[in-house]
Amino acid sequence: MATPMPTSSGWSRPNTPPRSGRAEVHAALQRLDVPFGVVIRDGEPAVVTDGESSLFGPMPTGAYPLAAWIPAFTPDQLGDPGFQATYGVRANYVAGAMANGIASEELVIAMARGGLIGFFGAAGLSTPRIAAALDRIQAEVGDLAYGVNLIHSPNEPKQEEETVDLLLARGVTAVSASAYMRLTPAVVRYRAKGLREVDGKVVATNHVLAKVSREEVALHFLNPAPAKMLDALVAEGKLTADEARLARQIPMADDITAEADSGGHTDNRPLPVLLPLLLALRDRVAAETGVRCRVGAAGGLGSPDAVAAAFAMGADYVVTGTVNQACVEAGTSPMVKTMLADAAAHDIGMAPASDMFEGGVQVQVLKRGTLFAMRGNKLYELYRDYASLEDIPADELARIEKTVLRRSVGEVWAECERFFAERDPVQLDKAAKDPRHKMALVFRWYLGLGSRWAIAGDETRRQDAQVWCGPAIGSFNAWTRGTFLAAPEARRVVVVAANLLAGAAALTRARWLQNQGIDAGPEALRWIPRPLSGASA
Ligand SMILES: Cc1cc2nc3c(=O)[nH]c(=O)nc-3n(C[C@H](O)[C@H](O)[C@H](O)COP(=O)(O)O)c2cc1C
Repeated sequence: MATPMPTSSGWSRPNTPPRSGRAEVHAALQRLDVPFGVVIRDGEPAVVTDGESSLFGPMPTGAYPLAAWIPAFTPDQLGDPGFQATYGVRANYVAGAMANGIASEELVIAMARGGLIGFFGAAGLSTPRIAAALDRIQAEVGDLAYGVNLIHSPNEPKQEEETVDLLLARGVTAVSASAYMRLTPAVVRYRAKGLREVDGKVVATNHVLAKVSREEVALHFLNPAPAKMLDALVAEGKLTADEARLARQIPMADDITAEADSGGHTDNRPLPVLLPLLLALRDRVAAETGVRCRVGAAGGLGSPDAVAAAFAMGADYVVTGTVNQACVEAGTSPMVKTMLADAAAHDIGMAPASDMFEGGVQVQVLKRGTLFAMRGNKLYELYRDYASLEDIPADELARIEKTVLRRSVGEVWAECERFFAERDPVQLDKAAKDPRHKMALVFRWYLGLGSRWAIAGDETRRQDAQVWCGPAIGSFNAWTRGTFLAAPEARRVVVVAANLLAGAAALTRARWLQNQGIDAGPEALRWIPRPLSGASA
């Protein structure tokens, strides 16, 4: 171990003699709730956990020179303590929503029981299906923390309104609002409903974590809702005049999540770029409004190092997604979980999004073990290059029918007609007038089913499985390799969360030690997963 710089601080009268050696320093670092000092004994660093210290002035006679001091630092100390108070959780860690119920009831319930919060993956699900999920979650979690995803649906505004009706009727007090470019009456209504004044302070019933990857979108949520929208909601009888008045005094969101390069929909922004931008924006707005939102970090968090770095950069809380899809509780198939367990950081790529295909929007997906990204991109190229299905060269179309769709375009279209006749007949009118739109609907059939084949674990469609996944899977697999957490059946969301948090706290302490000149070796900078059972472990 390297010998640290000389010091004028001293340590005296320990009850137990200082313990020399790297193993002792390493062990002390792992006991997160025990502060310790490192003194120089016989020229070597040694650990002390009791005695008296003098930081300034002459060193007491017989004192050991004090080289470093490490306070206790536990997972609940990572981030802004206000987060724990708002949501009633034990640590600032969120399991983010994952569409189609991949962030399942089981996942949300497990997080609640572990003293953390998870958001049900309501996107892509019908209102009755979300209601059924709430029946189960509410029956099992009692007063513990949970939330639901409220996703902006530009193509289906009715769905967004219905989801808000349901959330309000069922007393859901936390939502993760995502995919918003600007505010809608639905999300404003959710935030304002139930606002009240207690001792001159505005108190919210409903809490909003807004997920954003751009500053201009963050601004909508950092500020109060627009007066015009609030007035219209009052005129429609959807808010009281008091609720609208109070809504003008608080930001739209309690929390802004900076969504960096993640699984699923992503702008692929690096976290070290996006997070500081949003923290600075938050501070500028807070200086004007006097109310400070918290800013959380999401995207790429798959190891304790990454989580420690996010908090070190100023994140008030962290959000994970990709690593949770690999866990037992996730509402997807063992086939997907096995595929995820084999993936490295480079085994991901971008593919067309089924919901915003025509706009060229992409999602980040797993590339290893599935050809979905390649095939989806091919379909997008055809859509871009040809005006209709009929324009696609016959041999090209035949290849697509044989290897990708595995049925004729006519058969796919018949299924599309049945589906949209019930769900959204306007699409069929549009397709009748615009052959390019018809082509988009046919190709979206494949993209949409790609997710269903993945969730169902359809082995006959493994090559077409659409698995939303970010590069965090690579760091997660590398960190857990050779440990009990390498096995898909051992990956539980709370065990993963507790290890990421405890590991982040341990690594933070190891860096503090390193910054004081003590090199405790590479083992000190590696947190080996252990079977922790909750956030406070
Ligand atoms: C399978 C999957 C589905 C997702 N679906 C949604 C969604 O429906 N709504 C949403 O707001 N975020 C969704 N996300 C994003 C996560 O909530 C989270 O913000 C993100 O995964 C964090 O980045 P990471 O993937 O690098 O961990 C999804 C992520 C994954 C991996």
